[in-house]
Amino acid sequence: MTEAKRLAAEKAMTFVEDGMIVGVGTGSTVAYFIDALGREPDRIRGAVSSSDQSSQQLRSHGIEVLDLNSTGPLALYVDGADECDPRKRLIKGGGAALTREKIIAEASDRFVCIIDPSKQVDVLGAFPLPVEVIPMARSLVARRILAMTGGQPVWRESVVTDNGNVVLDIHGLRISDPESMETALNQIPGVVSVGLFARRPADVVIVGGPTVSIL
Ligand code: A5P
Repeated sequence: MTEAKRLAAEKAMTFVEDGMIVGVGTGSTVAYFIDALGREPDRIRGAVSSSDQSSQQLRSHGIEVLDLNSTGPLALYVDGADECDPRKRLIKGGGAALTREKIIAEASDRFVCIIDPSKQVDVLGAFPLPVEVIPMARSLVARRILAMTGGQPVWRESVVTDNGNVVLDIHGLRISDPESMETALNQIPGVVSVGLFARRPADVVIVGGPTVSIL
């Protein structure tokens, strides 16, 4: 799948226009996109990054990392996903960067999602759904998630997010109504954000492979 990720990332460069400030996600697929940006670093004005990891990689290529508060709305956001359904609704957050990713997606006019074919699903939920939670609310949120969804929340113990929070991954879901689940989970006190991108899905999905598809 590595080659498929690289091909999807290379194709995303066709959406980059000269002088843009580009929103940049996190993960192994986006890492290829950052390398592609790095081959022509002067083409863009800079990037808004969704994680310390991506910021570091951007800076290593000489690309300036900008504060979203000073850029205003972004024309383009490029990021990967853990699952993508036929309506371009996504599960994200496998890399624990979901909150900043969600903020950048919301701030962007066009969200281009780059994936390999293994990420395409009919129904979201086989990939455990990440939820970022304020640490003191971890057990409370886990109980509410269990009661609300029937899924099994598992604390990703080794992970602290860039925002100093914890992540619960909900296993065993079959998400028939992603918009409703996103809204419901967001209402639990202590939830910072939910890795469902249904209310703000991708605008374009690029699937890498021997033939690259743009959906
Ligand atoms: C990061 O938190 C995630 O949302 C990533 O975008 C997602 O996990 C995809 O990662 P890969 O490109 O490494 O598969």
